[in-house]
Amino acid sequence: MLELNNRYGKLASHVYNLDKPIGKSFGDVEFYRARLEGCTRAILEPAVGNGRMLVPLIEAGLDVVGFDASEDMLDHCRRQCAARSLSPDLTIQTFDSFAYRKRFEAVIVPAGSLQLITDHAAAMAVLVRFFDHLAPNGRLIVDLDSIGSFLGDASSFRQWRTEDGDLLSLTAQRIQIDYVAQTTVSSLRYERWVNGQLAESELEFFSLRWWGVHEFILALRAIGFVEITVSGNYQHGRAPNNDDGAITFEARRPA
Ligand SMILES: C[S@@+](CC[C@H](N)C(=O)[O-])C[C@H]1O[C@@H](n2cnc3c(N)ncnc32)[C@H](O)[C@@H]1O
Repeated sequence: MLELNNRYGKLASHVYNLDKPIGKSFGDVEFYRARLEGCTRAILEPAVGNGRMLVPLIEAGLDVVGFDASEDMLDHCRRQCAARSLSPDLTIQTFDSFAYRKRFEAVIVPAGSLQLITDHAAAMAVLVRFFDHLAPNGRLIVDLDSIGSFLGDASSFRQWRTEDGDLLSLTAQRIQIDYVAQTTVSSLRYERWVNGQLAESELEFFSLRWWGVHEFILALRAIGFVEITVSGNYQHGRAPNNDDGAITFEARRPA
């Protein structure tokens, strides 16, 4: 079953691109644009997905490069970039082994992507890898979804109309919560319907890990990050509260 985990396959990527197209913002696109204003050197977006965040940042004049584990997600990203005559450096790589020769002025991880790493030690190793890829004084900016947003509705059904008029549906069911490991697993069943007939289906298991706010601050400190700020719902410098869905951490690699 491990091979079905957090795979973002063909239908999952299509749904992501319909549900969260380029520039779709939860307040995060404007937030990241403002936090990165003035950056002149390269910025890395690990788990870049379909380019929802990358494209508007490049259009704002920033030099952003990205990688993603999913060929299907990266295909969407490449298509979206080509349609705008953009050609950023986009590669298939994974959190645990990505490597670049250059060092970045910022590493950004929006949309809770870090929470896809469900093993604590593995997540720590990835944070170390982010640190190592930052230039001195470079900044890491990471979003985490609040614990509350993890433990909401256990099941859901949603549907989207594709560009060709087909119907894509997603039936999600949370199937496991581990309070010790701080993880949830959901089963995601994607289906494509043509004229009421099932044409294609895809099953994924979606695993996430939640972090406590102080736990994540301690993790960043242990790795050597300094000047850690925590913000709620994309209001920079406003401490998170119980109602916030997104919590953003910004930290600096010392000079
Ligand atoms: C929630 S999407 C985020 C996309 C984009 N950053 C955004 O803000 O919309 C998560 C992305 O993480 C990618 N991903 C999942 N596991 C990964 C891994 N181990 N290494 C790199 N990317 C991974 C998925 O393919 C997917 O594109």
